[in-house]
Amino acid sequence: MPGLFSNDILDEVARANDIVEVVSGYFPLKRAGKDYVALCPFHAEKTPSFTVSPAKQIFKCFGCGRGGSVFNFVMAKESITFPEAVRILAERAGIELREDPDARRKTQGRRRLRDVLTWAQERFQAGLAHPTLGTPGREYLKQRGLADETIKAFGLGFAPEGWDNLIRAGARDGIGLDMLEQAGLVIPRNDGTGYYDRFRGRAIFPIFDALNRPIGFGGRVLGDEEPKYLNSPETPLFHKKEALYGLPQAREAIEADRRAVVVEGYFDVITPWQSGVRTCVATLGTALTDDHIQALKRYADEVVVVFDSDLAGRRAADRAMELFLAHDVRILVAVVPEGKDPCDFCTLHGADGFRQCLAGAADAFKYKWDLVQQDLDAATNPAARERALRAMLESVLKAPALAQQDLRLQRDLILGHMSRTLGIPEATLRAEFRRLRRPAGRSAAGTEVGRNLPDAAHRGRQWVAERKLLTALVCRPSAIEDVLDRVPPERIETPAFRRLYEAIRSSPSAGDADVAGLVRGMEDPADASLAVELFEQGQAMETVRNPADTGPGPIEHLLEEALRDFKKIEEEALLEARRQARGQAPTQGGADPNKALKEFAEARGNEAKKQAFTTPAARKRMSGDSGQA
Ligand code: GTP
Ligand code: MN
Repeated sequence: MPGLFSNDILDEVARANDIVEVVSGYFPLKRAGKDYVALCPFHAEKTPSFTVSPAKQIFKCFGCGRGGSVFNFVMAKESITFPEAVRILAERAGIELREDPDARRKTQGRRRLRDVLTWAQERFQAGLAHPTLGTPGREYLKQRGLADETIKAFGLGFAPEGWDNLIRAGARDGIGLDMLEQAGLVIPRNDGTGYYDRFRGRAIFPIFDALNRPIGFGGRVLGDEEPKYLNSPETPLFHKKEALYGLPQAREAIEADRRAVVVEGYFDVITPWQSGVRTCVATLGTALTDDHIQALKRYADEVVVVFDSDLAGRRAADRAMELFLAHDVRILVAVVPEGKDPCDFCTLHGADGFRQCLAGAADAFKYKWDLVQQDLDAATNPAARERALRAMLESVLKAPALAQQDLRLQRDLILGHMSRTLGIPEATLRAEFRRLRRPAGRSAAGTEVGRNLPDAAHRGRQWVAERKLLTALVCRPSAIEDVLDRVPPERIETPAFRRLYEAIRSSPSAGDADVAGLVRGMEDPADASLAVELFEQGQAMETVRNPADTGPGPIEHLLEEALRDFKKIEEEALLEARRQARGQAPTQGGADPNKALKEFAEARGNEAKKQAFTTPAARKRMSGDSGQA
């Protein structure tokens, strides 16, 4: 991991900051055997499961799973980035940080970029405040109903008309065109004769990171011109896939509620904020990504995604489902009535109206499920019904977490629910589910389905093999040299495991059983938590070992087992590839891939089963239609 700081520096800073002392600086710890315990600061609990190990210099919560080095602890406690945590701890210990020259240049570049963005934000604010030039901007925001306090809280600004307002201000304040271009504030002229301002005659919405530093801007026209909104381009600081508009303004309220609301537009954040719903953030014209969820997970246990119409919700439902299944955060879907967006709705019905709408949010799963049911009800022929049903099973399957992890519980819940609502035996659904999971089906209908789906059965085994391997390696980093020959990094498919693998590989000093040395350089708290979790698991395996035993221990066995698994998976993949090359059907479960669905269809022919295969709503309708069923 080519980080900002060298391994030696991180080592030095970590050594100088005993984790027990640092944690005790925040809250008292109680001795429990060789460890210390306390109530976990990262989740609500009544009995302490937060543990600090002075020997290993790590912390670990057995309740919420968080864990890591002293750096990770400070990061989580202060909600700051890794380099910031390193700086704070270095300062605490009186260590002067010598940064990598390369990394330093990069940070300096970012710092300059930050300075330019902060400067520009001030310019835009001054533009709004300007007695004459700012008038159109002020009038627009007022007409949109924003109070001065709100305008200030969101740092709103105005870029007056003109091609070079910012360029001239830059020249005056010593900010060059190259910096303005890097910051996405100016655009080179087509004919190569210089630059012009990107934002002209627009109300400016600065976009901040979680620490309240400007990273980009959105600009709205005051009239009906196109485009309505103009956003900063991607820069080293601004990534639309990660940024959440309104995060610093909403953070406190989100933390208090443990619930975040994701809306679509700038005004959908600001207007509800002004009326009292302060938990809204907006994506910037992109769909919700894993990075967004990752960021929100720090503050919330629930994320409500708001759509302004059923149609929009319908289109995004699958994505919401995937996120729901892939993250340990509850995702809910709310639809604003009357086709209004949250901004208009709040203006019309106030905070209470909007709160009511949020309270009606449905679980992503239930939302998707209702959509499928509507389709089922509307379907007039068996084929349409089967499509709807299959759509549901497929979206369950597509969820990466379900494919990779053993989320049997989640799957069983879903299948159970489907079975009850549809009156289809769970066993039949299970068979269909298994069929869809199999390697690409070979029949005409099956092929398309199979091609687009991850091979869950295979991924499941792959995931298990990866987990075994990494558990062993976290406990025996010295084994990595031998393992690398047999399992090159690209064979590790799960991103978190791959990162851990690379970390072990590039962690020169990490001795065996020194997990703190390994997680020391990890910037992502989730990575550190994973490493500690696997380490604890490996340790647990070792403690049950008979000390008189001197041969290879449980970890060595685990490693061997993992390597065998990898070999087997590879061999089978080879075999499968050969079979495919010969154009043969797979031998495994060689049944007709559409058998289960055919059974559904046949069931429809049977009057008794027909009842069972309709949804309750359809059943009601049918019995109403015919008077007597
Ligand atoms: P108002 O009409 O000002 O209330 O805007 P809104 O917040 O209701 O915006 P809308 O629902 O039209 O769009 C939602 C979000 O999509 C905006 O906040 C922008 O982030 C983005 N967006 C909308 N129009 C454009 C556009 O023309 N270009 C770009 N890049 N993004 C846009
Ligand atoms: Mn809108």
